[in-house]
Amino acid sequence: MIKSYIWSIPTRVFHWLFALLILAAFLTDEDSLLYYHALIGYGLLFVVIFRILWGFIGPKFSRFKDFPLSKNEVKDFLAEIFNKKQKHVGHNPLASFVMISMFVVCVITIFTGVITFGADEGKGIVSFLNNSSLKDMKLLKEVHELFANLFIALIVAHLAGVVFDRVFHTQYKTLNSIFDGYKMTDANMSISLNIFQKISFLLFVIVLVSFIVFSFMYPNNILVS
Ligand code: HEM
Repeated sequence: MIKSYIWSIPTRVFHWLFALLILAAFLTDEDSLLYYHALIGYGLLFVVIFRILWGFIGPKFSRFKDFPLSKNEVKDFLAEIFNKKQKHVGHNPLASFVMISMFVVCVITIFTGVITFGADEGKGIVSFLNNSSLKDMKLLKEVHELFANLFIALIVAHLAGVVFDRVFHTQYKTLNSIFDGYKMTDANMSISLNIFQKISFLLFVIVLVSFIVFSFMYPNNILVS
């Protein structure tokens, strides 16, 4: 088998930033840490928006159109789930569904979080909701928590999939691929980034760093005050 470069640096940077920020969001889920929880939520939004854009402009395997999501692909995959032979070089169909669900659930969780922050705390970009009928509406917070819990379920499913793959398809080195970008494939399937993709990633890094600097310089900015 051949070592092919499947996950470029932007995809891997996204992965670990996403995992880190999600962890930080759960660790700051306390009244006394709400300020940081909100900031992390905005950071997550940047990161997820980048990944969604990357799903359209990124390289092969990271693009959504390369995610095997059709009914037949799912059926075939399930029928041959224990088969040692690899059909999918990028994400397999179940992984693709989990990943898309993560992006959707994450965006909904952030959106409901911003509204709850405004309505309950009178803070953030929709602080005016604190003077509306949404104030003290428990439902908002409950919906936010429901989606956060749903996200935990998706992480568990994801990690179970990673372990399954490690046990039954060890030879393809999927687990290593999220660290070094390489999987083992039958033929050379390596990707490379074009100049437009490199510039897009650079812009994302600049915006993210600017956001972090901005948050330190203006701790009482409109997003959280
Ligand atoms: C120790 C923890 C983790 C490990 C070892 C891990 C491992 C992996 C691996 C191996 C892949 C590539 C799967 C494939 O080739 O189909 C992947 C993709 C992915 N993982 Fe994780 N993961 C971890 C934690 C997380 C967490 C906590 C999240 C969510 C917050 C997450 C979200 C994702 C997403 C969204 C992708 C798709 C990446 C993309 O296409 O951009 N992972 N992960």
